[in-house]
Amino acid sequence: MAHGCFLLLCLSLTSFVLALGKIDPRSDPKLNLLVSDLPGLHSNIDEKDIPRMYSGQVELYPQNNTRYYFWKHQDTHKVDRNHKRTTFWFNGGPGCSSMDGALMELGPFRINSDKEVTYNEGSWHRLSDMVYVDQPGGTGFSTTDKIDHELNQVARDFMRFLEKYFELFPEDIANDIYLAGESYAGQYIPYIAASILDHNAKSNSTYNLKGLLIGNGWISPNEQSMLYLQFAVEAGLISKDNAAMPKILQQQEECQKIVSKIDAAVEADKVPSWHDFESDSTACEAILNMITRATTNLNGPKHDQCINIYDYRLRDESPACGMTWPPDLANVYKFLRETQVLTDLHVTTNKQWTECSHEVGRDLKARDSMISIHLFLRILESVPIMLFHGDRDLICNTVGALNMIKKLKWGGHTGFSKNAPQIPWVHGNQSAGYIKSERNLTFVSVYNASHMVPFDKPDVLRALLDLMTHHFDADTSNGAVKYVTHPLERRGAGTGPGSSTNPSTTSSVTRIIQFAVILVLLWGLHVLYSAYRARPSSIIKSSTGNTSASNGQRKKNVQWAENLRRFQLEEQLMHQNTSFLSKALQKFRGTERRGNYTPPRSFSPDLRQSFELDSLASHAIDDDFIIGSDDELDEETRPQDPLL
Ligand SMILES: *[C@@H]1O[C@H](CO)[C@@H](O)[C@H](O)[C@H]1NC(C)=O
Ligand SMILES: *[C@@H]1O[C@H](CO)[C@@H](O)[C@H](O)[C@H]1NC(C)=O
Ligand SMILES: *[C@@H]1O[C@H](CO)[C@@H](O)[C@H](O)[C@H]1NC(C)=O
Ligand SMILES: *[C@@H]1O[C@H](CO)[C@@H](O)[C@H](O)[C@H]1NC(C)=O
Repeated sequence: MAHGCFLLLCLSLTSFVLALGKIDPRSDPKLNLLVSDLPGLHSNIDEKDIPRMYSGQVELYPQNNTRYYFWKHQDTHKVDRNHKRTTFWFNGGPGCSSMDGALMELGPFRINSDKEVTYNEGSWHRLSDMVYVDQPGGTGFSTTDKIDHELNQVARDFMRFLEKYFELFPEDIANDIYLAGESYAGQYIPYIAASILDHNAKSNSTYNLKGLLIGNGWISPNEQSMLYLQFAVEAGLISKDNAAMPKILQQQEECQKIVSKIDAAVEADKVPSWHDFESDSTACEAILNMITRATTNLNGPKHDQCINIYDYRLRDESPACGMTWPPDLANVYKFLRETQVLTDLHVTTNKQWTECSHEVGRDLKARDSMISIHLFLRILESVPIMLFHGDRDLICNTVGALNMIKKLKWGGHTGFSKNAPQIPWVHGNQSAGYIKSERNLTFVSVYNASHMVPFDKPDVLRALLDLMTHHFDADTSNGAVKYVTHPLERRGAGTGPGSSTNPSTTSSVTRIIQFAVILVLLWGLHVLYSAYRARPSSIIKSSTGNTSASNGQRKKNVQWAENLRRFQLEEQLMHQNTSFLSKALQKFRGTERRGNYTPPRSFSPDLRQSFELDSLASHAIDDDFIIGSDDELDEETRPQDPLL
């Protein structure tokens, strides 16, 4: 009997303590999104390296099934400067999932061939809370019946997501916010930043936007494309004697005409405005396609037929030429289609993951959107922008970006000034790249890195956040200045900030549980002691009246404990019904091919190429390598969007 009373008291007390800690998932919906397990998480990764994670699909617009999928990583053993910082990460496309970033680039995990997570030492979550968002709707695990066509729609939807996100994480609302991403995110990020600035100007609850980081960004498509030929020749990828050269030069001239027209219009505009000839970059992009074809050798071994356009050191099979790269992609596909993984990540729709959504790529043409470079002037007045470029990327290469900056007007001048120094960047003792920075715009070239810089150089690229937040040394020991960033120390077992014996670094949930257990034990001892001293009958009497209440309480607590163990969704946040769109999406299945690579070498281009400017050009930009037929979608059922 003493036992029963002990249990009762313990349970009541536990629930009281839990209520105090507000960690009942009913009162804090984010607890339903906690990720407690993933294949390999606890076997391959040291417990102290496992971030606290939240993952799920947030409903934005129930009327058209729009849900944004996010995955948040938070270090439970933060270094000081990591506090109060939230970085949202976007991959490009349009339509490519930010799971690329989370699982192949800057996230805490990489996926091995056993479909298990392994630890990535270069993860950004140690410097900032990281939130990987699949957007716009239709991308990755995000759903919608109404795909965005224009960039202001993308920004509007993300603002809605931010609202929902901070409802889940109100404790983060005052955090410094960074927007970071890659490739086509060079369009998303400035649009979202401009929307945040608009919001801040109108509202009393402002978002603390502190900086933008854009990697190998697609920001001014025509201007960037005009430099493909120069870059390819300088990198030794194509010889001036190539038989296709006259045709390529002809296309180059075509592109030059368009760019001149744009330059004239930009010059004449008092405020940046939209021009149809600027948002269409098909003619200029075709140059890359022509270069790729002109250097393709279909007679070569399969892994050595053409340049990988994301890393020109590598060779690939034609016509993929990089589309199935990086090699981790095959593992990521398998991982994100595992039922257990979907359960662990709280993905509740029946949507099959694809790296890049064909539909989003096709619909988000942004033909009525001003290109994002024209938003820079305004953004740079209040928020710094860092453009970083892996120097081995062909598709969004350094030369094109520098050309774009040369023409950009901001902070009262055009381009970087003549004597803007090119500052060497040293990471640890490794030459990492160089930096140019003036009037809130910073250009960083990262040496020996591809289009996906953090895939090649995770540890180096994490230090980009240190550059952004002025956490580096300016070393002038050799006369000229160089910026030195420092690798984060590996967390040794039981030492340093990673030590689990340090109560200030233990997660709050763990602390509350520890506290509850100690209290319960103390009370238990007290109760046992009282029971020992008191008459048994009095204990029976005092406990009977509360039995039913305690059962209810117990059930709730057991349920809570189960939640905490598996963090399953008790009530499904999202509806299970699949939209027409997501069904259609399942038709496009990934070809889980692995790219094969050999070290770069000189090769003689084949002369039998064709030079049609076909649709490949419009697929050139990080588009889906999963080719499906557009005819499979009924255009009648496709929602029409007003042109904005
Ligand atoms: C902001 O707050 C001030 C004072 O608290 C109030 O007068 C003003 O109307 C608010 N503005 C908005 C846009 O809510
Ligand atoms: C750079 O940004 C700061 C705010 O972060 C602003 O005060 C300053 O005027 C900006 N500089 C230029 C040249 O626009
Ligand atoms: C650079 O640092 C690494 C690790 O700290 C060390 O192993 C290596 O010898 C250093 N290299 C040079 C050139 O100092
Ligand atoms: C870049 O790679 C080349 C060869 O792959 C190597 O010789 C060079 O040292 C590397 N440079 C840096 C800065 O890592």
